[in-house]
Amino acid sequence: MINKICCIGAGYVGGPSMAVFAYYCPDLQIKVVDINQERIEAWNSENLNNLPVYEPGLDEIITQTRNRNLFFSTSIKESIAEADMIFLSVNTPIKLKGLGAGKASDLKYIEASTRMVAENARNHTIVVEKSTLPVRTAETIKMILSASIENNNGDNNKTFSVLSNPEFLAEGTAINDLKNPDRVLIGGENDDAIEALASIYCKWIPKEKILKTNLWSSELSKLVANAFLAQRISSINSISALCEVSGADINEVSKAIGTDTRIGDKFLNAGPGFGGSCFKKDILNLVYLSSYFGLNEVSEYWNQVVLINNWQQKRISNLIIKKLFGTVSGKKICILGFSFKANTNDTRESPAISISKNLLEEGAKLLIFDPKVSGKQIINDLITKDQAYSDLSLDKSIEVCSSIEEASKNVDAIIVTTAWDQFKIINWGEISKLMRKPSWVFDLRNCLDFKEENTEGLKIWKLGVSNL
Ligand code: NAD
Ligand code: UDX
Repeated sequence: MINKICCIGAGYVGGPSMAVFAYYCPDLQIKVVDINQERIEAWNSENLNNLPVYEPGLDEIITQTRNRNLFFSTSIKESIAEADMIFLSVNTPIKLKGLGAGKASDLKYIEASTRMVAENARNHTIVVEKSTLPVRTAETIKMILSASIENNNGDNNKTFSVLSNPEFLAEGTAINDLKNPDRVLIGGENDDAIEALASIYCKWIPKEKILKTNLWSSELSKLVANAFLAQRISSINSISALCEVSGADINEVSKAIGTDTRIGDKFLNAGPGFGGSCFKKDILNLVYLSSYFGLNEVSEYWNQVVLINNWQQKRISNLIIKKLFGTVSGKKICILGFSFKANTNDTRESPAISISKNLLEEGAKLLIFDPKVSGKQIINDLITKDQAYSDLSLDKSIEVCSSIEEASKNVDAIIVTTAWDQFKIINWGEISKLMRKPSWVFDLRNCLDFKEENTEGLKIWKLGVSNL
């Protein structure tokens, strides 16, 4: 019987997923712990606008659960010691150096948190992998936990079961995804542990949606699900380029192929390439694992998904420069949207970052507006020591704006990188009056509503639509 849960990692997954657990299971006591004190303080903030994660509907759930049966804290050891079930929900970024650099997962946070569990857990504890992990990571986790039992200093009651329960939420729709998931995946070797976790999900999710597998299928399925989703985006983006030169329209092509039920209509929106903290790192991890196991053709196949994504972002940047008479040096350009998709404040791997950097390198001055991303975050994302433009005075080359109007003043071009709803209803007639002539709008999401009477004097470029 599970009474107390500890979740290590209070990020985009740990915070929202445990809030939904707490919401549906008022009898559970849930502690979400993190080494990042600032993040924990933000989760405990009275002002819900200061929560570290922006997700529609999250504030309501936090209001109902926080300090009732959901607690955010930095007391990691104590929370581990009292927990019956522990979720590992820490970050698993790409390794930056050493063996597997640039592709393999950096498991240092998983290892550190597992060691904390090994040292501090009491009695029987179910350890659940919530983070996305390379297949067979549970083996490492089990090894670290078993070593602590062997050196138990007389605590003979200490035992562990390890489960894999990857998270499939997408940012921007996280609360809905957690409340109504397509499926919940639980991989494990011990039926009692699997049932203990399944019985929690059963409080709000129909039994038939809870898939039970072996550990390795569960770990691998998460990487494969992300790889398949990203593959669809690279596929449609590659076709967007073909549409632009052939007279076809990517929206029409997407609809035409998506109505085939075998293909399906989701994830067929062409755009500036996929961003977010997951797709790139998870595919690269699959690429690394495949070559590690000697499956070079498999590895190269999946690597192509990432290469097309990089190509799409570079292709778009070059195209913008070409349209602006081959140079953006000294020109003001407005970037609308900095998060990697709408309805999140997350900028990790956002296409807006790479496109902005390409334009800054060419000498452009950027005026950037995003409804939810802070100015501090935008500046942090754009300052990179090894970029040529870092020599320039940053306050001269980047201006963070607080409205669409402010970001449009005297600009030669507006680039819409994120499909926030408020961009879809822009009055282009009014905005174009603020811009320098000739004025360009680059609709990288194919999401803008251009009305004929409002677009006089405006040059419009839509991704994946013939610009012959
Ligand atoms: P995140 O960076 O937002 O949060 C991770 C948190 O873990 C950070 O706050 C960090 O301080 C904390 N942490 C790291 N080491 C710790 C330790 N030893 N003790 C305590 N806290 C520690 O990451 P995220 O976006 O929540 O992702 C977490 C995992 O979930 C990753 O493996 C990711 O691939 C996976 N995932 C993410 C998403 C998503 O949409 N973000 C969706 C599904 C799965
Ligand atoms: C993804 C997976 O969807 C989710 O299941 C997993 O748990 C984490 O990774 P996320 O990255 O949060 O979620 O958002 P997602 O909606 O998948 O979008 C990822 C990127 O692909 C965004 O940059 C988005 O704009 C882009 N995208 C998505 C497209 O360009 N076209 C599409 O049709 C769909």
